[in-house]
This record gives sequence, structure tokens and C-alpha cells, in this order.
Amino acid sequence: QTPASFYDAVGGADTFRRIVAAFYREVATDEVLRPLYPEEDLGPAERRLRMFLEQYWGGPRTYGEERGHPRLRMRHNPFVIGPIERDAWLRCMRIAVAEIEPELLDDDHRKALLDYLEMAANSLMNAPW
Ligand code: HEM
Repeated sequence: QTPASFYDAVGGADTFRRIVAAFYREVATDEVLRPLYPEEDLGPAERRLRMFLEQYWGGPRTYGEERGHPRLRMRHNPFVIGPIERDAWLRCMRIAVAEIEPELLDDDHRKALLDYLEMAANSLMNAPW
């Protein structure tokens, strides 16, 4: 018997939906991040990030079916991402993750998720200023 994926362990689709919805709720009023998003409607971007995170953590592989290989560095090239943008992104994400109850996201899973998000945000910086 294989162990449950991280995705299943933390509540599956509903947990990922809640995290990413809260994240974009924050982005919508963030003066650093909002101007970076080319589209008026944040819904499609929300869906892409949700599908990506679900796939990364062992859930459905819809992201790959629709978008192919993530190539996240390349896909972030159009946006200047320095420390200010990274910090703003992580601030929104930490608010979003904090809204998930400990019954769904225990300390170990929470730490794994936040460590990953921090690592990923650092790796996507493409500007030193
Ligand atoms: C797309 C900004 C970090 C995952 C985007 C887009 C922007 C953006 C403006 C375009 C919106 C869209 O049309 O999808 C940023 C900034 C970051 C950051 C400022 C700060 C470091 C991250 C991190 C991840 C991530 C850490 C993953 C853990 C994605 C994904 C997409 C995306 C999956 C959609 C890619 C696709 O087109 O398939 N990001 N991002 N981003 N971002 Fe980020």
C-alpha cells in the first residue's frame, strides 16, 4: 500500500483551492504584485497556479496536460522579480496558508509547504534589485 500523497493528506482539492483563492485575493490588492498580472481577470492565473501546486504535491496532473512542462523560470522571465516582488509574493502566500486549519495542515506539512514556497520564490528571482 502506498502512503497517501501530501495532496491527500492535507485535504486534497478543497485545501489547494482555498490556499490559491486566498493568495489571489491578497494579490488583487497588493500594489507591488497586482500590476505584474497582465490580465484584468485573475481567475485564469489562479487556475494555473492551483493546477501546478496540485500536481507538484501529488494531486491530479491537469497542469501538465494543459500546459506541458512547467518551465517556471522561463515563464516568469517577462516579469521583473527582485527581492521586493519575491517578498510580496511570499507575504500573500503566507497569509493564504495561515488560513488553513491545523486539522488539515499539521506542523510538519505546513513547514514542508512553506519551505517549498520560499525555495521556489527564491529560485524565480531574475533581478537583483
Ligand atoms: C505565473 C508572478 C512566484 C508559479 C505567474 C504570472 C505572474 C507571476 C505575473 C503570470 C500570471 C499567469 O498568467 O499565470 C510571480 C511572482 C513571483 C512568483 C512575482 C515571486 C517570486 C511563483 C512561484 C511559483 C509560481 C514561487 C510556484 C511555486 C506560477 C505558475 C504560473 C505563474 C504555475 C503559470 C505558468 C503557466 O503559464 O503555466 N507568476 N510568480 N510563481 N506562476 Fe508565478
